[in-house]
Formats: sequence, C-alpha cells, structure tokens
Amino acid sequence: MENMFSLAGKVAIVTGGNGGIGKGIARGFAGMGANLVIAARNQQKTADAEREIKEEFGVHVLGLKIDVTKEEQIKRMVDQTLEKFGRIDILVNNAGTNIRKMPQEYQASEWDAVLNANLRSAFLCSQAVYFAMKKAGGGKIINIGSMTSIFGGAKLAPYGTSKGGIVQLARSLAAAWAPDNIQVNAILPGWIDTDLTRQARIDLAGLDETVKSRTPVGRWGDPQDLAGTAVFLASRASDFVTGVALPVDGGFSIALM
Ligand SMILES: NC(=O)c1ccc[n+]([C@@H]2O[C@H](COP(=O)([O-])OP(=O)(O)OC[C@H]3O[C@@H](n4cnc5c(N)ncnc54)[C@H](OP(=O)(O)O)[C@@H]3O)[C@@H](O)[C@H]2O)c1
Repeated sequence: MENMFSLAGKVAIVTGGNGGIGKGIARGFAGMGANLVIAARNQQKTADAEREIKEEFGVHVLGLKIDVTKEEQIKRMVDQTLEKFGRIDILVNNAGTNIRKMPQEYQASEWDAVLNANLRSAFLCSQAVYFAMKKAGGGKIINIGSMTSIFGGAKLAPYGTSKGGIVQLARSLAAAWAPDNIQVNAILPGWIDTDLTRQARIDLAGLDETVKSRTPVGRWGDPQDLAGTAVFLASRASDFVTGVALPVDGGFSIALM
C-alpha cells in the first residue's frame, strides 16, 4: 500500500523554519521526502538550517530572507518558490513573536508588531499561495496557534489575541477553500523548548517548574514533537480533516491542575 503520510515530490513553505518549532516541522517534512522553502529574517540561521536539512535528508531546500510582516516580501517568497520548484503544496504559518507586558503598558506599535507578525502574516501568506494551490488541484495550510488560543494570560493580550485569531482564520479559510481541495488546520503547541520560551524562562520566574508540574507528561516539548502532527496535516492522510485546532501539548489543555 502507498504510504499515506508520504510527502515525496511535495513542496512546503515553512515561515520561521530556520529554528525552533518551524525547523522541527521542516525536518519532519524532509524526512517524508518534501522539498522545502525556509523563510525567515536571520540569514545565517536560515543558511545553517538549509545546510543541516539538505545534508541529513537529501532533499532540496531553498532558504529565503523574508520578513512576513511585509506584504511585498511575502509575494517575493511565493514567486521565488514557484520559480525554483514550480508548485506549492504545503504552507506552514509558523513565524511568530511575543512582547510580554501588562495590558495597560503596551504601545499601539507593540500591539501592531505582534499582531502583524503572528496573524496578519498568516492571512497574507495563505492568500499569496492560494492560486498556486488551487491550480495544482489542492493543498494544505497549517497555522501554528498556542495554548493561548484557548487560555488567557495577564501578560499576553496581543499574543493571545493573535493566537485566538489564527484558529478562527484557519476555520474561515477551511470553509472558503474546501471546494478547492485545500485543507486548513491549526496546531496548538504546549510549552516547547525554543529560543522564544528560553526568553520566557528569563522573564517569568518559576516557569520551568510550573511547566513541568502543570504538563501531565511532566516535561517540556521538543520542536521535533510537532513533526508527526504536522506531517499528518500536510499529507493525504488528513484529506477529510479541515478547520480543526489540534493540541500537541503533553496533555496541558486537558488537565485541571
Ligand atoms: N515555544 C513554544 O512553547 C510555543 C508554544 C506555542 C506556540 N508557539 C509558536 O510557535 C511558533 C514558533 O515559535 P518558536 O517557539 O519556535 O520560537 P522561535 O525559535 O523564536 O522561532 C520563531 C521563528 O519565527 C521567525 N520569525 C519571527 N518573526 C518573523 C518575521 N517577521 N518574518 C519572518 N520570520 C519571522 C524567526 O526567524 P527570524 O528571527 O530569523 O526571522 C524564527 O524562526 C510561533 O508562532 C510561536 O508563537 C511556540
């Protein structure tokens, strides 16, 4: 029987794919045979990820310097992907950032920075790949949400708003593009050990102990923990799954304490 999780011959764009969760997902896709576009701002990190994945998995990888808050750069990302590979099958809207403050302390520019990087970018990237996916007869879009798609937090007003929004965005795009055979879903990671949360561990005293005691499996997630779910949502195995928000959280979202 053909492997229903195979991504051989597919082309996947992963925004923020040069580190953390994005790189974990990119590695998962490469392991199933997909060629990749890694789009992020830090060129050195992108070049390192590109080399690592090419060497380990032998797939084609195109690293692009892209700021997903800039619409013209998103268009360039799509143009360059089509120029190199001629198709786009999978988009992962993973690039994201956070600014932690009490709600009364934010500048409007800080609100905009978080919403633009986390939510507006996901809409614009999805819009930008739509016609290529439609032309190819279908596609898969995966939005990276968060536990803050479900829970609130004192210092999370713009971040939580963006992560709640990205789930609703997935549902709206899923409904709109189902007739085009494009499935749009969200993954909600629990606490994953990355640069983003290493900063959180500095900002928030006691976070390490809290995460371990509050997460039923008793540990932080690793970026690679997201790979299996992302492969499922990027593959033929999920063709009848659309508009869902799937927690990958070691049980964080189902445990009362
Ligand atoms: N770690 C967790 O526990 C956790 C939990 C839930 C959700 N998430 C979400 O998972 C996603 C990845 O986060 P992470 O934890 O892996 O953090 P990370 O290691 O800091 O990764 C963030 C990635 O986004 C890229 N990025 C940020 N702003 C960008 C922009 N304007 N344009 C293009 N790329 C941009 C970064 O690359 P450059 O700096 O090179 O641009 C980096 O590759 C985010 O959406 C985050 O909200 C993380």
